[in-house]
Amino acid sequence: EKDKRLRVAILTLSDKGSQGLREDLSGPYIQDYFKERGYYVTSYEILPDEQALIEQALINLSDRCHNDLIITTGGTGLSMRDVTPEATLKVATRNVPGISEAIRYESMKYTNRAMLSRGVSILRNQTLIINLPGSLKAVKESLDIIIDPLKHGLEILK
Ligand code: MTE
Repeated sequence: EKDKRLRVAILTLSDKGSQGLREDLSGPYIQDYFKERGYYVTSYEILPDEQALIEQALINLSDRCHNDLIITTGGTGLSMRDVTPEATLKVATRNVPGISEAIRYESMKYTNRAMLSRGVSILRNQTLIINLPGSLKAVKESLDIIIDPLKHGLEILK
């Protein structure tokens, strides 16, 4: 009997996190969040803010691991090291701008710094990839904004 659960991979982008210099609270939170809602979490890893590494990871998680969804956290701001949106756009086959528009719009209620996240949402073939900001607070707020319509979108994609 085939496992029908939606497959989600989590990728944390952080120079400090990848060197063990900062505990990643956001990745584990995302993992628990999706598990609690019946998703199958296929992988969780932390990479440094290196565009080529991020692109390769996104390609593997989409093409080889057949995830329905990849959630990234971190690397969406204005620092010169923040390259998550660039890596994500590089591997895109279609754009899904409304998800990131909703995250920024709804997040402005919490902080006007929400406008500083450059996160994007895209499809790579049948895999939906969504960039979230890095902080635990931003991750919590963002997930609650997208979770209901996300389920519907993924069911259509399957
Ligand atoms: N979005 C929400 N919902 N809540 C937040 O606290 N923080 C913002 C923004 N988006 C925030 C948010 C801040 S301060 C920054 S700098 C950007 O996300 C980019 O974060 P990143 O560089 O960790 O990806």
